[in-house]
Amino acid sequence: MSVPDVIAIDGPSGAGKGTVARAVAKALDCRHVDTGAMYRAVAWRALQQGRALDDEQAVAAVASGAVLALDGPRVAIDGEDVSRAIRTPEMDVAASAVARLPRVRAALVARQRDLAGGGSIVMEGRDIGTIVFPDAPVKIFLDASPAARAARRAQDPAHRQPRGARLADVARALDARDRRDRTRRASPLEQAPDAVRIDTTELAIDAVVAQVMAVIRDRRRTVSRS
Ligand code: DC
Repeated sequence: MSVPDVIAIDGPSGAGKGTVARAVAKALDCRHVDTGAMYRAVAWRALQQGRALDDEQAVAAVASGAVLALDGPRVAIDGEDVSRAIRTPEMDVAASAVARLPRVRAALVARQRDLAGGGSIVMEGRDIGTIVFPDAPVKIFLDASPAARAARRAQDPAHRQPRGARLADVARALDARDRRDRTRRASPLEQAPDAVRIDTTELAIDAVVAQVMAVIRDRRRTVSRS
């Protein structure tokens, strides 16, 4: 079986994954999947159904059974457009809570694998290069200083912050969530040994995209020669 042509982009929140993944997908004219939106939508739907977020069986049933539609920035679950509703501080916490549950992860990882095949795909998340596609031909790990990540998150119009939130509050919430994502037992956020790490702290978005495109070109040249 051939290896799916996946460009895996992993890293913590605010490292620039979303913006970079979208730009790379545009440059390659290929699909882009934001797997974080899948965890967010599942958490949203479970809450809407009145489920406790630690009810692993109930949340896993949502993760495997719900109709998920991902179309660029638009996200719908079971026919309901949740594109905006899933990007709130409450949903940051809720998504991180369901992402700890192994059965929820297993269900979403299976769906993510199903999305590949049939052309190139840029997939962003926390475990794409380690768990979802350990054989991905291109793996990028984006990181940035905590201060830079908090500043970006605070300025991101897609993410609503609580009224009057200060940068220090955003930084604290981001740090707590990343600690949970890095220390959970099931597929913690970590860099794959063969991923190319790019520190985006001092880089403009175009420069990051250029570096990622250079990695892709390089890998493709190597593959076509072998
Ligand atoms: O990227 P994001 O902030 O939208 O992700 C939401 C949550 O889901 C975050 O706590 C990390 C988690 N997540 C994950 O565990 N694995 C992924 N592949 C993507 C996101």
